[in-house]
Order: sequence, then C-alpha cells, then structure tokens
Amino acid sequence: MGVLNKKIVVLPGDGIGPEVCNEAIKVLEAVAERFGHRFLFEKHLMGACAIDATGNPLPEETVDACMEADAILLGAIGDPKYDNNPAAKVRPEQGLLRLRKSLGLFANIRPVTAYDVLLDHSPLKNTRIAGADMLIFRELIGGIYFGEKGRTADSAYDNCTYSKEEIVRIAHLAFQSAAMRRQKLTLVDKANVLETSRLWREVVQEMAPAYPEVAVDYLFVDNAAMQLILNPRAFDVILTENMFGDILSDEASVIAGSLGLLPSASVGNHVSLFEPIHGSYPQAKGKGIANPIAAILSAAMMLEHFNLQKEADLIKVAVHNALEKQVLTPELNPTSPYSTEQVGSFIAYYVLEGALVVPHRSNIEVGLSTII
Ligand code: IPM
Ligand code: MN
Repeated sequence: MGVLNKKIVVLPGDGIGPEVCNEAIKVLEAVAERFGHRFLFEKHLMGACAIDATGNPLPEETVDACMEADAILLGAIGDPKYDNNPAAKVRPEQGLLRLRKSLGLFANIRPVTAYDVLLDHSPLKNTRIAGADMLIFRELIGGIYFGEKGRTADSAYDNCTYSKEEIVRIAHLAFQSAAMRRQKLTLVDKANVLETSRLWREVVQEMAPAYPEVAVDYLFVDNAAMQLILNPRAFDVILTENMFGDILSDEASVIAGSLGLLPSASVGNHVSLFEPIHGSYPQAKGKGIANPIAAILSAAMMLEHFNLQKEADLIKVAVHNALEKQVLTPELNPTSPYSTEQVGSFIAYYVLEGALVVPHRSNIEVGLSTII
C-alpha cells in the first residue's frame, strides 16, 4: 500500500470526548510520520457542545463536512444537564442519532476481546473469559430508536419497525465476517414475543444457505445476556437489532475489563465513522483519567478500513505493549495510574519507534477491511 492522503473529520463532542480524541489523533499522527501518509484533521461540533454554540446538536455544516470526509472519528456525546431533564426538547443524543441516519450508517461493529494481561481486571472469573473474542454487529439506524414516538400527559410510546431490506444488508456483513473468523453467527432476538424479531429470524434463516460454511444459531436476548457472562467463548459473531446491540455491548465490555477499551466502526454506503463505545463520562472531564484506548483502537479500525493493515496492526501491538507494561488509566490501575495523555503518548511513541511485529491474530478485526 502506497502513501495515502486522507481527510478525517473529528467530532470530539462532550465530556471526555475531546481528551480521548486528542490521543487518537496523536497516534494517527505517529502513523502518518512513520509511514509517510498525510492525514488532515478537521474538527466540528456535535452534541451538547454544538447545542451550546449553535442551539443545534448537529449543525448543517457538520453534516456537510462529514459527507466530504474520508472517515470520521467521534469522541463521545452527552451531558448530565440533559439526562436529568426529561422534558428537554433538544438533546445531544439527537445529534448522534441524526448523524448516523443522515450518513446511512446501518451497521455498528463492536469487537470485544478478553486480553490475557487484563484477565484479572475483569470481575468475571479468568477461567470463564480467557480467550473470549467476539464481534457484535449492531443494527444502527432502525428499530425502536428511530420508530414513531409519542407522548400524552400520562402515556408514551416508541414503535419498533424493521423492513426486510434493513435486516438483509447488515446480515450480509455479519455472515461475511463470520465466514472469515470462526464461522459462527448468533442471531440475538426476542422472537418468542416480538414480531420484528420473528422477521429477523425468518430473514436470517433464508440467507443462511448462501453461507454454508457458517453455523448459525439463535438466542433470545434474555438468554444471550446470561450466556455472554457464563460462556463468552461460545460467541464469534453476534448479529442483533439496534437496542439489543446497545445493551449487550455494554455488558460485553465487562469481559474486556473496562468500557474504556472498546472501539467500534459504523459503516454504511458512504463514509464510515469510528468511535469508542463509551459515553461522555462527564464526571471525569478534564481530570486526565479517561482511558484513551477505545478511541485509539477506533483509529486502528479506521486504518483497517483504509486498507492500511500493517499500520492498524502496529497500533494494536502498541496498545498491547501498554497493557502488558501496565501503562493504564486509573480504572485499570488504581495504584500507579497514568494519565490519559501519558497512555496516549506511550502508545504513540511505540507506533513511531517500536518493532513492526505482526500481532498474534486475536481475530478481533479480521475481515473488516474486506467487508467495509
Ligand atoms: C452508544 C450510545 C448511544 C446509543 C447514545 C449516546 C445515543 O449509548 O453508541 O452505544 O444508544 O446508541
Ligand atoms: Mn450504548
């Protein structure tokens, strides 16, 4: 792969978003320097910071900039002043949801890995989580998040709707990815109760024969929530609808040891977006205690998307090195913690100077560059 020129729109957002984005940018700059690429970063407003500045959580010019970008890096959005005010008409989350919808980002891919060196940091038993390694495919622009909603004085509703086409397009990605990994796909639904879930099941059953190498199984979401904790190694690729994917991926982060470690890629038909799965963690804002690794690994997923596998691998090796040397933020290392910036610089330094060893394939992103 030759030298690349890419324009990356950065949406730092709220809370710890700007801090973790800065570290991801630092690491991407180290990649650019080492390999001769040119990444141009352009920051724009979204979320509570955009409401404060413009009254709109997703200003038009942010959408325009995203449409022209080669990729988008997002920090986090959200602010307690809205969380604690259910009557607020304008909310930071609307910005993120509208952005996902306007860019057609229908699939959100969330890798979850139990890192050997962090096994003791998970409250779950080592013996259960060692070797766990899964990819969650969460549908991102349909379902209850985007259905018609309404409110009267003493009642409220949120509709959940899915079309066959909305299921087929993400299911193809999940099948392709499973085919390149351990050949197992688990559809998580609530088909014993929900009509939409029965449609998901029907569509996935129809598609399965086209991927004969992939073994498909089906789990109700309540059982899936339990199996994730009881036997996480049983999962390879999980495919699920929007809200179930939101809930299960936070749960699955307990396997990795911290929500601050989990990256994600959101893909559609146009530009792709890369963001940590954690929220804006407002209590930590400005304290230098936020874990930048989820944002840094999201940047690695972006490089994989650009087909820069060697560069993405180098970031993953650099992150592993930080984990091994216990260069960790306080939620993972309370006794001798490093700051957000120190963890970022340690990783960036390895990216600049460290050995170019091919990482032990944990499978986490295998197939991403092919399918997105
Ligand atoms: C996520 C977040 C968002 C979601 C919120 C901030 C709207 O929790 O990306 O998982 O629910 O999708
Ligand atoms: Mn979430």
